[in-house]
Amino acid sequence: MSSPNRRRQACGASGVRWVARPAAGGDTTVGRRRPGRHPFYRRAEDSGMSESDKYPAESGRRRFVKGVVGGAALAGVGATGAAAINSATQASGAGGGSTQAFAIENTDGPAPRGMPQIPVEIDDEGYLKGAWPEVTTEQQGGVSVKVAEAEDFKGSGQTYSTEWFQYCGVESYAGVQPDYDSDNYFRVGSNPGYEWQSEAYSEGDRLHVDDFSDYQEWSNGVGDPGIGKGATGRWRSEDAEDVIPIQVIKSDRVEDLAQQDPWLEASTQEGFVAWLNKCTHFCCVPKYKSEGSAKFGGENEVYCQCHQSIYDPFSIVQTLFVARPRPE
Ligand code: FES
Repeated sequence: MSSPNRRRQACGASGVRWVARPAAGGDTTVGRRRPGRHPFYRRAEDSGMSESDKYPAESGRRRFVKGVVGGAALAGVGATGAAAINSATQASGAGGGSTQAFAIENTDGPAPRGMPQIPVEIDDEGYLKGAWPEVTTEQQGGVSVKVAEAEDFKGSGQTYSTEWFQYCGVESYAGVQPDYDSDNYFRVGSNPGYEWQSEAYSEGDRLHVDDFSDYQEWSNGVGDPGIGKGATGRWRSEDAEDVIPIQVIKSDRVEDLAQQDPWLEASTQEGFVAWLNKCTHFCCVPKYKSEGSAKFGGENEVYCQCHQSIYDPFSIVQTLFVARPRPE
């Protein structure tokens, strides 16, 4: 797990670990790479990658580097090393630029960083939703830009910005627009990731805490039982052309973490943690306890089947990246 390139701030006052490991190409996360792994490719329709997610072959590398951490941003957290930033990241549009996000940690594979966390809220009836900050208008470069950002989110001392989600084309989705009209509930999508969801819900139903009550024993046959119960879903996507995929887990591990850290106390609820479920590599949709993940050591983690990136949903880290501007 340890690496000379990895910098970490141990859980303590902040409780959240920094991961800033500039590697060739300037990403933040190198991870526990295992020798002898050979990525394989699947057809997009098998991988959860939508047509709109696929990058044109001639621009694949160009778009890949858009997601890496900028040298200037890394310098801001004391990291060293240069990072490549495609000039296209500076394209005009609303918001974007160097952004600091909380994320579930990328621990292996080619993904450049973790997937951004969505702070969880639970309403009075027990339905799960993702927090969306109040919208304000700011002047950026002489232009009025709508921003959904909460400084000192719920007293955590940390800033939560929806610019965290502006990558992989999501920046152009209707649901990521600050003032998109949504109730912010996590809803079951057309193709739920787990059998229990297909039995308990219909498409469009809201995820409810009661349906996770067996989380201490739950298993889908992958990895160890009882670590946590997962669900897939969508967020801020009703009446929208593009679906924002999310994943949620309820786990005792999350509850334990929340007791140690103000940010996790604010951003998780009753052991629920959620994130935008778009792989930061080439934008596939990963899954917790995914079939086929065991041979890559990801049977108890979040695994992206496209090129075997692995994320640890029980390790929340801060990452820096260049958020894409929303198209104007
Ligand atoms: S590992 Fe390549 S898209 Fe996820």
